[in-house]
Amino acid sequence: LAGGSLVQDLAGTRVLVSAGGTREPLDPVRYLGNRSSGLQGWALARVAAARGAEVTLVAANVEAAAPFGCAVVPVGSADELRTAMTDHAPAADVVVMAAAVADFRPTDVAASKLKKGSSSEPSAVALTRNPDVLAELVRRRPAGQLVVGFAAETGDADDDVLGHARAKLARKGCDLLVVNDVSGGQVFGRPGNAVTVLAADGTAVEVPAGSKDVVAAGIWDAVAARSPGRR
Ligand code: CTP
Ligand code: CA
Repeated sequence: LAGGSLVQDLAGTRVLVSAGGTREPLDPVRYLGNRSSGLQGWALARVAAARGAEVTLVAANVEAAAPFGCAVVPVGSADELRTAMTDHAPAADVVVMAAAVADFRPTDVAASKLKKGSSSEPSAVALTRNPDVLAELVRRRPAGQLVVGFAAETGDADDDVLGHARAKLARKGCDLLVVNDVSGGQVFGRPGNAVTVLAADGTAVEVPAGSKDVVAAGIWDAVAARSPGRR
């Protein structure tokens, strides 16, 4: 872990992190997925464990060895991720939703492999909206628990990156939102990162560009500054 001393400032803190990207099945061999590598969530888990936290990592389709000292719960779909997070969240002091959760899933999942058939026209895939896991966790959270969301945003005609992020933070109701500016489209699978940590009270902390471990350390500094409840 580059830079900074490994103070045990998270000793006794129970941390639940989701990482990776969900896959929504179409049939036994196909899915709708996304490009999240899970590496930033992995770094968050690894750094938290190194700083003394007790870490549970809900991992959606991440191709990496379990970080040292973390309990890994593998999941596939958004529904599985939701169940795992709902099971583990009540015992956590800090919940971090770093996973990219699919907004929609195929309405029908075929029991056997779909065939292309004789028509040259493809059939449309009907989609159903997935539940918002982060919003649910916020609604059900125990007293003193800190809930952290993630958002990858670009500016557009309606607002800039931070404007969209502030609206999302308010909509989700979480305590902190870790914001990635993906306007350049340069984030996925890259070793480094840079984020802004927005708080519900309106403060914004810049975590400058660095390796995902260094960025993770900056995010935990922002969390530790809010001293999540120790029970
Ligand atoms: N999230 C979630 N459940 C979903 C969708 C998103 O828990 N069904 C969480 C993500 O893990 C992340 C945060 O919500 O921590 C923000 O995700 P994002 O996709 O940016 O938010 P959405 O509300 O889906 O907004 P958008 O329309 O911009 O995709
Ligand atoms: Ca989304």
